[in-house]
Amino acid sequence: MLVLTLFTVLAALAADKKLVAAQSHPDTFYPHNTSSLEGFWASGRGDVRTGDGFANPINRTFNYPPNAGLSVSFDNSGWFELSRYRYLPNGKDPNCIKGIIGWMHGTYEINSNGSLTMYPLEDGFQQVQDPCAGKSFQNFIETYNTSEVYQKWQIYEDSSAGTMARLYQYDSSPLPPMKRLSETPNMLPRQKLANATGTTNDNTTSDATTVTRRSLFSLLLWGSN
Ligand SMILES: *[C@@H]1O[C@H](CO)[C@@H](O)[C@H](O)[C@H]1NC(C)=O
Ligand SMILES: *[C@@H]1O[C@H](CO)[C@@H](O)[C@H](O)[C@H]1NC(C)=O
Ligand SMILES: *[C@@H]1O[C@H](CO)[C@@H](O)[C@H](O)[C@H]1NC(C)=O
Repeated sequence: MLVLTLFTVLAALAADKKLVAAQSHPDTFYPHNTSSLEGFWASGRGDVRTGDGFANPINRTFNYPPNAGLSVSFDNSGWFELSRYRYLPNGKDPNCIKGIIGWMHGTYEINSNGSLTMYPLEDGFQQVQDPCAGKSFQNFIETYNTSEVYQKWQIYEDSSAGTMARLYQYDSSPLPPMKRLSETPNMLPRQKLANATGTTNDNTTSDATTVTRRSLFSLLLWGSN
């Protein structure tokens, strides 16, 4: 089991390198701030999407996608919506992988230094599944209402995939490239859809260990994107 896990991790790292190499030669980078972020963007095969069908903020549930991924929609009036599902290593034990699925919407601003800040409303929420955490932290849902700064963003034309966007996190590490699925943003209603409800344990999602099993089959922390 341990051998299999190490192999999986090494394979993941190798696949990650190959992917980065394959994607580091986009055709045309648009100079910063000259192209609009407006549109509906999603990484990989688009399993994770903004808009209808991913998250239900009213009862704080998710329809779990088959793979991890990231999707953001932006409109030109300054509204965004973000959906994401990612796997994080637990650090202590390679068999322990944490799954975090989240949704938020709100307003965004392009700052004078070119960075991007997202200001979610308090109806944002995320579900954390960590089979190796203490019992009351294995599977919970919490309000997610934290502003996020992205140091940089880029829009470019990829010769095979088309128009792509990439966000760079607060520490400048890049998020997976997202393809523009449409020029029209795909969003739930642009208003507060629920009040913040704090943290609740989730007894409805079966077995938190499915996160670990699923992610061992997936080669990247962001899924097979
Ligand atoms: C949550 O709301 C959605 C959309 O109305 C519904 O399809 C789903 O069954 C609800 N889930 C639970 C657990 O209530
Ligand atoms: C750019 O501006 C934002 C917002 O003011 C700030 O959070 C961020 O740290 C700045 N980035 C750099 C590299 O100075
Ligand atoms: C959400 O964040 C905003 C801005 O930081 C804050 O004013 C508000 O009180 C927060 N709401 C909740 C429910 O935490």
